[in-house]
This record gives sequence, structure tokens and C-alpha cells, in this order.
Amino acid sequence: MKFTAGIVSALLASAVTAASPYKKIFIENDGCTGLNILFPLLGDIEIVGMSGSMGSYSRVDAVGSCSTLLADLNMTSCIPLYAGAEHPLLFNKNTFKVWETLYGPLVWEGAFTAGYEDSYTWDEINYDDTTFAAVELIKAVKAAPHEVLVYAAGTMTTVAQALTIWPEMPKYTRGLTIMGGYLDGQIAQATGGNMTSDLFSDINLIQDPEAAQMVLTADWPELIIGANVTNTIYPTTELFERIVEKVGGIENVRTNPDLKAVLAFVGENATAPDASTNLPLWDEIVSAYTAYPDLIKSEIKIKLAVDTSIASPFYGNIRVWSEELAPKHGVKTGTARWITDIDRERIENMIVDVYTKNWNEYCKVGGPLDFDL
Ligand SMILES: *[C@@H]1O[C@H](CO)[C@@H](O)[C@H](O)[C@H]1NC(C)=O
Ligand SMILES: *[C@@H]1O[C@H](CO)[C@@H](O)[C@H](O)[C@H]1NC(C)=O
Ligand SMILES: *[C@@H]1O[C@H](CO)[C@@H](O)[C@H](O)[C@H]1NC(C)=O
Ligand SMILES: *[C@@H]1O[C@H](CO)[C@@H](O)[C@H](O)[C@H]1NC(C)=O
Repeated sequence: MKFTAGIVSALLASAVTAASPYKKIFIENDGCTGLNILFPLLGDIEIVGMSGSMGSYSRVDAVGSCSTLLADLNMTSCIPLYAGAEHPLLFNKNTFKVWETLYGPLVWEGAFTAGYEDSYTWDEINYDDTTFAAVELIKAVKAAPHEVLVYAAGTMTTVAQALTIWPEMPKYTRGLTIMGGYLDGQIAQATGGNMTSDLFSDINLIQDPEAAQMVLTADWPELIIGANVTNTIYPTTELFERIVEKVGGIENVRTNPDLKAVLAFVGENATAPDASTNLPLWDEIVSAYTAYPDLIKSEIKIKLAVDTSIASPFYGNIRVWSEELAPKHGVKTGTARWITDIDRERIENMIVDVYTKNWNEYCKVGGPLDFDL
């Protein structure tokens, strides 16, 4: 079957050629992964800015992880990185603990975890320390009205800060795409064990419910929510091996400085963690269908709001309605495209595709090159 390989790769290549409708993206997250950057670039989307904010990690760790990644990809000089929010608008470690005492603990508490220790210090991080993410997000939107898609895969705090400065901003963006907003996960959470409970806990919204409500009910031209589908693709040893084989073997991955981003993704032994610790490619899946919306196989339109009552077990969770039964007065609601199915096989092929291209000269040539291994 060797001779079919050329045809297979030709098919794969054509599978990702449908042009993205998006041209510019601002990436806000509570930590970065390579695919957050590489999927938009593969889709020929310009990354107008990136930022890190407190959420699953502290702000310094969020910015630090993005800085390491940009350095690994040799993109520090052409993708600006900023610091976002240091803490939520209102919620804090103490009130979070009080809420957990009332309604039960979360398995994953992110930067609210007792005894959390920073991994980075500011002096070792390469970022633009003359400004802040909310301001730069606003500037990016002003510089290219109606073109910038906002990608927010951590808490909504930094985007909410921008809205307090410029409430009309959403209208001037291309839209908002987020990671979070799980639905119907209660039975799974109650019966699936800690890991499943974690998968369906909406930590991105829970850590800053007020910001989430502000942002998700704002006037975006489109609001795209993935949630459940982002739990459906995991790193596997097989996926890692497909990449490693195409870039000259694991020894090459360990030693070749051009393959730092591959090493960061597959690890030194290219072995996926076992099921009890392996995590879905949450943010990466959002990056994939954001860059290539034709990866979305089905979706529904819903009205939504975020519960902002601290005296509620659903504080920070979304509540959804049909258009006609959604509250018209009182609670403000937003309108979202809720993604219900994606093309998983093609996303996995795209992962192999991006990591087997050489992005190290991106800042100079504006795209990927073939590896010369
Ligand atoms: C599940 O999570 C809770 C809360 O973090 C913890 O107390 C418990 O030990 C965990 N159970 C298992 C089996 O890991
Ligand atoms: C979300 O996931 C849960 C658990 O797998 C499932 O029961 C539910 O149907 C899903 N909801 C939607 C709207 O996809
Ligand atoms: C990789 O494998 C070697 C040899 O089995 C082991 O010593 C090392 O801890 C592994 N590294 C990781 C990151 O799992
Ligand atoms: C890193 O990027 C610069 C352009 O910004 C380029 O000149 C240099 O060759 C790149 N380094 C590597 C190792 O590709």
C-alpha cells in the first residue's frame, strides 16, 4: 500500500484548503499551547495580539507559558504578547472557598488552589510590559474595525475589562469565540468520577461569573461556544507517533532546536499520559474550528445567560433558553452558536499537518516552510 501514500497526503492537504472567513485574531488565554498559535496561522489568520490572564494558572504563569511558546516557535519578534487580568472582577480566592463550602468542591481549582505557587517570575518573561491586554485589544479592534475575531479560552475577565472601557467594542469586532459553556453534564459529573466531573465543570466561567455574564451577553456579531465538543479529542501516542515519524524520529525531536514546538507537544518520549491524567485538547479544538469553520458539522442557536448569584450552586454556569422563552427583561441574555459536532478526524490530521511544517522563519517569510531534516 506504499504507493497510495502520495494520494492520501494530497487528499489531506486539500482537506484544509477551504479559506477561513477570519483574517485577524486576538488570542486571550490563561496559558498557551502551540496549536492556539499554529492553527490560526495555518488558516492564514494574522495574530494581532496575545495575552495571558489569571484562571487555571496565575497571570504571571499564563503570560510566561505564552512567552515560552512564542520563543520555541521563534515568533517573539512578530507576535505581541501582553499581560491581561491579575484577578477576577469580583470573585476571589476567599469567596471561591466560601462558595465551595456551600455547594461542594471542584476537582480543578486553577490559580485558586490552596498553596498555588507561581512557576515563572516576570523578569524571565518576554512580553510588552509598557501596556495591558485590555487596552491593546481595544487598539487592535480600532485599527481594523469589524475584522478582529476575539478568542477567549480562559476567564472572560480581560475581555470584560475592555468592555468597561469601550462598551461598543463587540459591534466593531468580527465576533467572539470561547472555550467553556458546558451543557447537560450533571449526570455525567455525578456518575463519571472526578475526571469527568472536572471535564464538565465550567471553570473558565466559574472563576469570574460577573465577567462571563458581561461578555457573553454583549452585542457580538457572532458568539461561538464549543463546550461539549471540546472534550472529544485527546492527545494519543498514535497521534504523537504520526508526527514524530514525519520529522525524523524521536531522537531528532529531542535534540533538533527547530523541533522545540514538536517536543513541547509530544514530550520527550512521545507517549500520551494514561487515561486518568490525559486531558482533552480543549482550547486547541476551539482554535481548529475557529481557523476552519467548515470543521463544524452541526450547531444550534441558543439564548444564554450566566448565573451570577453567589447563593446558587450554578454560580458561573450558563443557563440556556429558546429564542421565544428567553427572558426579555431583567436578566440580559446573549445569542450563541452552540457547536454540537465537529470533524474530529480532520482536526487530528491538521495537528499532524501543522507540527510537520517548519514555522521557525514565520516572522521573516510570513508562513511555514518544509523541514529540511
Ligand atoms: C475527588 O475529588 C475530591 C475533591 O478534590 C477529593 O477530595 C477526592 O479525594 C477525589 N477522589 C479521587 C478518587 O481522586
Ligand atoms: C453534553 O455532554 C453530556 C455528557 O456526555 C451529554 O449527555 C449531553 O447530551 C451533551 N449536551 C449537548 C447539548 O451536546
Ligand atoms: C522517558 O522515558 C525514559 C526512559 O524510560 C524515562 O526515564 C523518562 O522519565 C521519560 N520521560 C518522560 C517525560 O516521561
Ligand atoms: C528566527 O526568526 C528570524 C526572523 O525573525 C530569522 O532571521 C531566523 O533565521 C529564525 N531562526 C531560526 C532558527 O529559524
